[in-house]
Amino acid sequence: MQQNFRFKKAIVSSGPTREWIDPVRYISNASSGKMGFNIAKEILKWIPNLSYVHGNVSEKYANVEGAKNVYAETTFALRDALLNELENDTLVIMAAAPADFRPIMTAENKIKKEATVGLMIELEKNPDILMALNASIKDKNYNSSVLIGFAAETEKLEENALGKLERKGLKFIIGNYVGKSNAGFGEVDSTIRIFSKQGMVKEIVNQPKEILAKGISDFLKENA
Ligand code: CTP
Repeated sequence: MQQNFRFKKAIVSSGPTREWIDPVRYISNASSGKMGFNIAKEILKWIPNLSYVHGNVSEKYANVEGAKNVYAETTFALRDALLNELENDTLVIMAAAPADFRPIMTAENKIKKEATVGLMIELEKNPDILMALNASIKDKNYNSSVLIGFAAETEKLEENALGKLERKGLKFIIGNYVGKSNAGFGEVDSTIRIFSKQGMVKEIVNQPKEILAKGISDFLKENA
């Protein structure tokens, strides 16, 4: 195994989180966990100390052989699990799709449809995990740790990606278009663009996620 001596550790997050409305219903999103899973497998080849922290991914994407596998259900739990794993000299790849909002309260019992004509659910904002990781890096002087984010966009990919890179203190951000009629979520081929502060530094066009993951890992090995 080829070891990279720049990073002592890698953390890859993956998949969606769940925010419960009542005991049978939750808010989540269409992330499958496939991208994070494949990135973790590739990164493990050059950073053997790897924590794979995942939300509710399909079973086949829940365990990366040879990694420390950690499950977190909600965005709060994912944030805490990632803060707990963070050390100095760590490469963090935030491929998870945390739910951005949660219901202000979870009903104790199943909400019955007879009881109401419609249903209003009040939501509040979840914490931004990358921002929390960035604050922790600064707070603890983990100056050799590096954050890599994703930007799933339906429009203005470069503009939105660069805004997130800046706001969240990232070294690189991996952008792609998502949406019902676009590739991006699940099993289909998609195109990714890697951005640094200066703009686009790499593009991989229309490939399955296994190939995209290898391309991202190879890029980070050289540049992160
Ligand atoms: N992310 C995060 N914490 C959240 C939401 C997202 O750390 N609560 C991370 C994602 O894992 C990703 C990056 O931030 O690496 C961008 O996620 P994205 O969903 O594209 O953007 P948001 O910041 O949620 O902004 P918006 O939904 O408004 O586009």
